[in-house]
Amino acid sequence: MRVAVLGTGIAGRTLAGRLAELDHDVSVGTRDVESTMASSQPGRFGSPPFAVWAGQHPQVSVATFADAARQADLVINATDGSVSLKALQDAGAENLNGKPIVDIANHLDYSGFPPRLIVRDDDSLAEQIQRTFPESKVVKALNTMNAAVMANPKQLAGGDHTVFVCGNDAPAKTVATDLLRGFGWTDIVDLGDISAARGAEMIMPLWIQLMQSLGTAAFNFKIVR
Ligand SMILES: NC(=O)c1ccc[n+]([C@@H]2O[C@H](COP(=O)([O-])OP(=O)(O)OC[C@H]3O[C@@H](n4cnc5c(N)ncnc54)[C@H](OP(=O)(O)O)[C@@H]3O)[C@@H](O)[C@H]2O)c1
Repeated sequence: MRVAVLGTGIAGRTLAGRLAELDHDVSVGTRDVESTMASSQPGRFGSPPFAVWAGQHPQVSVATFADAARQADLVINATDGSVSLKALQDAGAENLNGKPIVDIANHLDYSGFPPRLIVRDDDSLAEQIQRTFPESKVVKALNTMNAAVMANPKQLAGGDHTVFVCGNDAPAKTVATDLLRGFGWTDIVDLGDISAARGAEMIMPLWIQLMQSLGTAAFNFKIVR
């Protein structure tokens, strides 16, 4: 499948690398290809400059948000949640219409610790994206764990822990679910329509607290029936 991963941070890189490993045709989207490739700045969490990662992944192409989305069958939103709507606007509604957008973003305010959720209770980032791009098919998924676990759930012992999906369009959810199965996910819980993203996004404060308590980001939630 042709997948556009919008986002050059650790989540975008990790998903893009894994998708390429699984033989998908992957393009990473960024605001400005030239400046992203020229930047020697480390990423937010001390990751190497993007160009270093790109050099190690020659099978992944790098394009503007719009060019990446235009060529894709499925788009992953892995941009900073505070600017996701802008990034998707840069990608262009015409390049998103009719396509699944797998939204993995969290809209957090990092000005203090722990970070605070900006959208909550009676709305969610995923719903905002769906409202802004009504012709696209937003599926919320993968925002409830760290990037390495998202892309390769089997790295955690047992491997049968849980990922949530929700969205209004059943075929788009099927496409997203197939992608998740490809990563190795087996316990995929469909929470319902896109309004269920409120709950999925509001898990973040608990996740952050757990990371503090456990001293690692290598963990996940498991729903036991
Ligand atoms: N990191 C994780 O383990 C993890 C886990 C769960 C969910 N998430 C979510 O995944 C998303 C990505 O996280 P991340 O840590 O990989 O990266 P990030 O630093 O949150 O986001 C990086 C991306 O945001 C884009 N961006 C920044 N400012 C922008 C602006 N003004 N307009 C348009 N785009 C802009 C950047 O564009 P350029 O490429 O042009 O710089 C870059 O592609 C976040 O929403 C995060 O909450 C991350």
